[in-house]
Amino acid sequence: MNNPQTDAHRNLVTIDDLTSEELETVLDDAAARKATAPAERAQPLAGQTMAMLFEKPSTRTRVSFETGMTQLGGHAIFLGPEDIHLGHGEPICDTARALSGYVDFIIARVFDHGDVVDLAKYAGVPVVNALTDDAHPCQTLADLLTIREQFGDLDVSVAWVGDGNNVCQSFALGAAMTELDLTVATPEGYEIDDSVRERATSVGTAPTETNDPEAAVADADLVYTDVWVSMGQGDERDQRLDDFAGFQVTPSLVGDRPVMHCLPAHRGEEITDETLESENALVWQQAENRLHAQNGLLTWLAE
Ligand code: CP
Ligand code: NVA
Repeated sequence: MNNPQTDAHRNLVTIDDLTSEELETVLDDAAARKATAPAERAQPLAGQTMAMLFEKPSTRTRVSFETGMTQLGGHAIFLGPEDIHLGHGEPICDTARALSGYVDFIIARVFDHGDVVDLAKYAGVPVVNALTDDAHPCQTLADLLTIREQFGDLDVSVAWVGDGNNVCQSFALGAAMTELDLTVATPEGYEIDDSVRERATSVGTAPTETNDPEAAVADADLVYTDVWVSMGQGDERDQRLDDFAGFQVTPSLVGDRPVMHCLPAHRGEEITDETLESENALVWQQAENRLHAQNGLLTWLAE
C-alpha cells in the first residue's frame, strides 16, 4: 500500500505548501488546459481515484472536484459525514492509512484545520485541503487564475473587505507569494491570524491591514469579500452582524471596480444584490475557475 514514510508525494494543506514557482506552474497548466478544446484535453489521471471527505456542505468544491476527476480520466468517491466511520469512532490516522490503500488522492473539507494536517501526516497519497476553518487554498488557486485572466498578470491591488478567516488567510498567503498587492479591511477582532501574517512575511509581503473599508478600497483595482457568518458559526450570527456593520460591499463602496466573492454569498449581508448582479462581478468566472485551477493542481500532484 502507499506509505507516508516512504512515498514521495506532495500535499496542498495550505497554499504555501507550494513554492511561488510551483504556484505559477499550476496556474499556467490550469490556464493552458482551460484554453484547450474540451475534447482535446489530456486525461492524465486515467484509472486513478479520489476520496472526497466532507464534514461541511459544498456546491462548488464538491462538484468541481468530482467533475474534474471525470475530465482528467479518473473517478471520485464522495464521502459525507454519515458515509464513513470517521467522526463515528475511527480516528483520522486509521482512515488516512486505510484510504491510502485504495485511492490516489484524498481531499477533505473539515472544521478543524488540524484534521487535514493529520490526514496528510498519515496518508500515503496526496492530501488536498478543500476548506478548513483556517484555510481554503483551492479557492486561492481559482482566485489568482481569475485575476490573471482579468488583468493579464497579478500586478494588481486588491482590497479585501470582510472577515479575515479561511478564504482571506489563504488569499493573503497567495498574494504574498506573487506580485499581488493586498490590503485587508476587517472589523477589530476579525483580523488574519498572527501566524498567517508571519508566514506571509516569510514568503513575501504581508498584507496591509486596516479597520476602514473605504481606506482599503481607495487605491484598489479590485474588491473581494466573503460571508460574515461562516459555516459552523451560526451561534455567533447576531454578534457578527453587529460587528460587521459598515463592511457591506455596496455599489457606492466599489464604484466601477471588479468584485470577487468566493460564494456562497449571503445577499444583503456582506454584499448587496445589486453588487453581485452587476457587470463588474467576477464571481461566476471565479466559480468556474475552481474546476480549471484544481485540474491543474491534480495534474501537478500526480506528476
Ligand atoms: N467557494 C466554495 O468553496 O464554495 P462551496 O462551499 O460551494 O464549495
Ligand atoms: N468563509 C466561508 C467560505 C465558504 C467557501 C466559510 O467558511 O463558510
